[in-house]
Amino acid sequence: MNVRLPRTWTTVLHLIVISGLIVEAIERVHLAAAGTGAAVLGTVGRKLYHYLYETCDENWLNFNAAGLKNDLDRKLYGQHVAAQVILKAVTGFMNNKNPKKPLVLSLHGSTGTGKTFVSQLIAENIYIQGIKSNFVHLFTATAHFPHDAHIDKYKTHLQEWIRGNVSICPRSMFIFDEMDKMHPGLMDSIKPYLDFSDNLDGVSYRQAIFIFLSNAGGEMINEVTVKFWRDGRDREEIQLRDLETELSQSVFSNEGSGLRNSVLIDKKLVDFFVPFLPLEYKHVIQCGLAEMASQGFTPTNIVIKRMADDLIFFPKEERVFSVQGCKLIANKLHFYI
Ligand SMILES: Nc1ncnc2c1ncn2[C@@H]1O[C@H](COP(=O)(O)OP(=O)(O)OP(=O)(O)O)[C@@H](O)[C@H]1O
Ligand SMILES: *[C@@H]1O[C@H](CO)[C@@H](O)[C@H](O)[C@H]1NC(C)=O
Ligand SMILES: [Mg+2]
Repeated sequence: MNVRLPRTWTTVLHLIVISGLIVEAIERVHLAAAGTGAAVLGTVGRKLYHYLYETCDENWLNFNAAGLKNDLDRKLYGQHVAAQVILKAVTGFMNNKNPKKPLVLSLHGSTGTGKTFVSQLIAENIYIQGIKSNFVHLFTATAHFPHDAHIDKYKTHLQEWIRGNVSICPRSMFIFDEMDKMHPGLMDSIKPYLDFSDNLDGVSYRQAIFIFLSNAGGEMINEVTVKFWRDGRDREEIQLRDLETELSQSVFSNEGSGLRNSVLIDKKLVDFFVPFLPLEYKHVIQCGLAEMASQGFTPTNIVIKRMADDLIFFPKEERVFSVQGCKLIANKLHFYI
C-alpha cells in the first residue's frame, strides 16, 4: 500500500475513506433514500481514496516530459547517446494516444554506467511513486529466476504476472535486470505481449513499457569509445548509428546476453538498443559531488578527487575510463570524508 502522509494522519483519513466507501455502498443500494449529507461524504471519501491509494489514473500516473528531459540533462553524466534516444523514445511513446505495440528498450553497457539509474529516472517521470509504484515491476534474473531447471514454471509465472498486472493497469512498466543471466527461453515466452496485436484474451499490452538491462555488448561499446578517444575525436561525436547495429548483432549472437538467438530480436520487437558509454574521470568526479550532496555533505572537490584517484581506470597506461563507472561511489565516499 502506498501512502504519502504520516501515519497518525493516515489512520484518521482511513476512517474517513472507509466511511466514504460505506456511504458509497449504501448510496448504491438506497439511491433514493441517501440524503445530501451522505452523498457529500461519499464524494469526499472517494476523492480521499484516490489520494491515499495508488490508482491507475491521472492522480498517480502523469508523464512529465520536461521533467524527464531535465533529469537526463542534469543528473545523468556522460551519456549523450543514451539520453537522446531515451528522451525521444519515451516521450514519443507516452504522447502517442494509440501506440501499435508496447515500448521495448534494451539498455547495454558495462557496470556502473547508469542503466539502473536511468530506469529510475524514467519511472519517476511517469509514476508519482516512481520506482516504488505498484505499477512498476522489477525482475532480477538471480533473484526471481535463479534455476534453469525451473524454467517452465518461471515462464508460466512471468506470463501470469504480466497479464495480471497489465489487466489492472495498462500503463505498467516491467524492468528486467541482469538480462545476461536470464534464460533466453524465458524472454521468448513473453514475445506475444511485446508484439503488434490488438489484444490477447481481452487484454491490450500496447500501453506497457518493457526495459531490459544488461552488460552484454559493454566491451564492444567500450572498444568503440576508446577508439574514438585514441583517434583524438570528441566523445560527443559518437552517435547511435556507430553502435546500434553492432550492438543488436552482438546481443543476438552472444552466449550470455539473455537474448541469444531470441525471437525478440529476430522479429524486431526491441524498439531501441541503447548504448551506455564507459565513464571518464570527470564523470566520476561529477557522480562523487552529486553523491556527497545527496548524503548531506558540502560537495568538496579535494575529497572526491582523492577518491577518484584510487579507482581503477583503463586503458592501463592512460587511465581514461573508469572500470566500475560510478558504481560503489556511494559506499566508498565515507572513507574519504
Ligand atoms: N551516467 C551516470 N550519471 C550519473 N550517475 C551515475 C551514472 N552512472 C552511474 N551513476 C551512479 O552510480 C550508481 C550506480 O549506477 P547504476 O546502478 O545505474 O549502474 P548500472 O549501469 O545499472 O550497473 P550494473 O550493470 O552493474 O547494474 C547510480 O545509482 C548513480 O548514482
Ligand atoms: C504483478 O506482478 C508481481 C510481481 O512484480 C506479482 O507478484 C503479482 O502476482 C502480479 N499481479 C498479478 C495480478 O498478476
Ligand atoms: Mg544495474
